[in-house]
Amino acid sequence: MTLVHRVLHPSPITSLAEYLERGGGRGIEIAADLKPQRIIALVRASGLRGRGGAGYSTGRKWQTVARNRSPVEPSTVVVNGAEGEPGTFKDRTILRTNPYQVIEGAIIAAMAVGADLVIVALKRSFEVECARVRAAIAEITAAGWSRGIQLEVFEGPDEYLYGEESALLETIQGGYPFPRVSPTFRRGVFKLTVEEADAGYDGVRIGSADVHTTTSAAAPHVAPALVNNVETMANIPRIVARGPAWFRTVGTKRAPGTLVCTVTGSTRVHGVGEVRIGTPLGEVIEAVGGGPRPGRWIKAVMSGVANPVIPGSLLDTPVSYEGLAGIGSGLGSSGFIVFDDTVDMVAVAAGIARFLGIESCGQCVPCKQDGLVLADLLAKVCRSEGNDHDLAMIRRRLVTITDRSRCYLATQQQNAVGSIMERFAEEFAAHVDGSTAPAEPLLVAELVDIAGGVAVLDERHRHKCPDWSYDVVYSGKVPAESLPGTPAPWRT
Ligand SMILES: Cc1cc2nc3c(=O)[nH]c(=O)nc-3n(C[C@H](O)[C@H](O)[C@H](O)COP(=O)(O)O)c2cc1C
Ligand code: SF4
Repeated sequence: MTLVHRVLHPSPITSLAEYLERGGGRGIEIAADLKPQRIIALVRASGLRGRGGAGYSTGRKWQTVARNRSPVEPSTVVVNGAEGEPGTFKDRTILRTNPYQVIEGAIIAAMAVGADLVIVALKRSFEVECARVRAAIAEITAAGWSRGIQLEVFEGPDEYLYGEESALLETIQGGYPFPRVSPTFRRGVFKLTVEEADAGYDGVRIGSADVHTTTSAAAPHVAPALVNNVETMANIPRIVARGPAWFRTVGTKRAPGTLVCTVTGSTRVHGVGEVRIGTPLGEVIEAVGGGPRPGRWIKAVMSGVANPVIPGSLLDTPVSYEGLAGIGSGLGSSGFIVFDDTVDMVAVAAGIARFLGIESCGQCVPCKQDGLVLADLLAKVCRSEGNDHDLAMIRRRLVTITDRSRCYLATQQQNAVGSIMERFAEEFAAHVDGSTAPAEPLLVAELVDIAGGVAVLDERHRHKCPDWSYDVVYSGKVPAESLPGTPAPWRT
């Protein structure tokens, strides 16, 4: 049995009463009798690693946030439900199926790090999930479960960078999703008092480029935020209720537990399913996506657009952080986009470069400029209008794109596009010498839904401009210079 059900229940849980009947709520009960340090110790001992992409130790992160507490201002817990990675739909599936365990995990996290507020950060366009989480919060609050911790839903924009944790906090604070210089454990969500708000004080004036740190005598009011992915939080209640040893009964030594994986692309069906960490990639694709389409073979797999491409010859690789790193790739948020032998890999590279080039915020000049040039050159090669000089220019831009980059997005271009060029060099050459038919860049975009076994991509991305507008004529500006003077709709 490849599929398991630790985090993703086989059928939706429709009420708090049903959640409690099925054993939910034990984590909070046990945590209430523990000191914060003991809760953190349990999470550390479990070996849980963040499921949002970076795979950082959850217990260590909690420890750091707890240590960086402000002497006067409570910390905040933010559940990252932005889910913007192309090919990923697991967080929305978890929230649709059982929002209670995610909120229970976040309340336990707040108890552990000394937070008085939990914000579940979703996107305004995630209407189903926003309604489901709000209804769950109402039930939990009415049942007195939240123990004085305030629970809120924040509805953010569709931009990819909104999911980057410091950009998420920037957005919650009323700004735009621009990654910050200060990490989240040093600068969380700046909460205005009623008096400050009445006096017209604007917390947003502390911009993403400013360095503000907790534990600084000059800024005692700067409190950190704990940001964890939806799936990470969903694992917490049972770690506390059943203990770290139980959690470690599945998975690998370095990465215990399960993963909720999304499989899309050239498979019989698209879907989301939970597997033990360490399950071979081919088995995951078979169990969740039904394997390749009839008569076809898998040429390559991408785990989102953050990591190097996985060639089809390595499908026996264990799906784990260390397994995928061992073949020069990465796990990301376990969203596997499958490409069979009919797919043009130059079109894939061109689609990824466009997605990342458009979504770059432009705070770091090389990331935006090189990203857009890469997208243009790759589209040219894809349409079989390019030459060897264009290929050389693409390689050069892939080197400079990460210069002075503040967040990981620029490196993603290097990883994803660079690896496709290296692994499938013959396909690029065939476009240049005209032996392959011209093609259009593949649409690479966030998933809007997976309905009836078919993934629905955000088609609007085809028309998105580099300034993040959908205007017919591109302004020529980048988001970092065109947006700050414009009030954001989510600003309160
Ligand atoms: C460009 C970019 C986009 C990201 N998008 C998401 C996202 O949509 N959801 C998410 O949970 N993490 C996303 N991340 C990762 C977060 O920055 C962060 O690592 C994560 O929320 C931490 O939670 P975890 O420790 O539980 O994984 C993104 C990172 C980058 C660089
Ligand atoms: S690296 Fe790119 S996306 Fe990240 S902050 Fe800089 S310009 Fe923005």
